[in-house]
Amino acid sequence: IDELLAGGVSGKRVFVRADLNVPLDDGTITDDGRIRAVLPTVKALADAGAKVVVASHLGRPKGAPDPAFSLAPAASRLGELLGSAVAFATDTVGQSAQDTVAGLADGQVAVLENLRFNPGETAKDDAERGAFADRLAALADVYVGDGFGAVHRKHASVYDLPARLPHYAGHLIATEVGVLKKLTEDVKRPYVVALGGAKVSDKLAVIDELLAKADRLLIGGGMAYTFLKAKGHEVGISLLQEDQIPAVTEYMERAEKNGVELVLPVDVLVSPEFPDLKTKAPANPTTVDSDKIPADQEGLDIGPKTRELYASKLADAATVFWNGPMGVFEHPDYAEGTKAVAQALVDSNGFTVVGGGDSAAAVRTLGFDENAFGHISTGGGASLEYLEGKTLPGLAALED
Ligand code: 3PG
Repeated sequence: IDELLAGGVSGKRVFVRADLNVPLDDGTITDDGRIRAVLPTVKALADAGAKVVVASHLGRPKGAPDPAFSLAPAASRLGELLGSAVAFATDTVGQSAQDTVAGLADGQVAVLENLRFNPGETAKDDAERGAFADRLAALADVYVGDGFGAVHRKHASVYDLPARLPHYAGHLIATEVGVLKKLTEDVKRPYVVALGGAKVSDKLAVIDELLAKADRLLIGGGMAYTFLKAKGHEVGISLLQEDQIPAVTEYMERAEKNGVELVLPVDVLVSPEFPDLKTKAPANPTTVDSDKIPADQEGLDIGPKTRELYASKLADAATVFWNGPMGVFEHPDYAEGTKAVAQALVDSNGFTVVGGGDSAAAVRTLGFDENAFGHISTGGGASLEYLEGKTLPGLAALED
């Protein structure tokens, strides 16, 4: 983007593919981190006199307009953060988008409605995606990719559109890639990775890669129960992916062979019921050792001994990557595990990176100061796929 700005963008229509996929509760944004993250790019372009056309997806609508997934709340929040009115187009490539873009003055910003309201955005068929990309291309002179959270998607606005316009990487993508390089090239050791979240199947590929890269892997969240079961423990009614047990068993063996310390919870908080996340009524969990989970109970957070153990395993790290909550942090009775890991990152003298998605939202909603971390990524799936060593379509499209 610096190259683009140096060449001058005044009067040019610049399409910024952002990731404004923010969590919403009844139309209210509960974490605006992703909107704040794209501000440097949007501001720089607007200040340089560009007509800035911001586009994004939000949620997973079914290829048709759906008010529950409107980007209108994100557009107003962007306007508040910029301190200037932002125009909003009620469609993506239709009359409203065309009129809104045509009406932009130099230095003004517009947001288009959710890209995924059009089936061409996510189509598997190249021609269908290409046709949608052609219509998006007609709205702009230049493309800036800055939606890091979506670079792992081969979608029209991420992958096909940059091929149709002069294209540049925005500030956010440059920062994110710079940080992830520190986790993949010349990593400072010990390199400790904490992984949580519900499903082990989402993390298999990254664990596979980390078994050759990391020094220590700490496992928490719902996925820990598949590891505990693979180790021979009963896990009651906890989340379990039986079909992943062979893979997890092989990973535990490989960890031992490679000298990677793979650490599992030694105690967990259990309850016969999943907590009510709306009322947040007291859940009154009990703490049990992880090899003594009662048959009728579900593990919902790591326990106090594990919190201490994980903090000690993170204490000497020179590099830390953390992705995925340790428990059901949305309920206060099950937030302590996630808080303890976040606190260990805050206390660390190493370079600490919080992977996006739930863990990024968790550190903010649990009241941690964002500046206390080395970096909080805006990409959950995107940062994991980067660490897996995959080619990310949205980065490949900007690289040529
Ligand atoms: C995310 O939230 O990880 C990104 O915005 C991508 O969203 P998606 O998983 O729906 O493609």
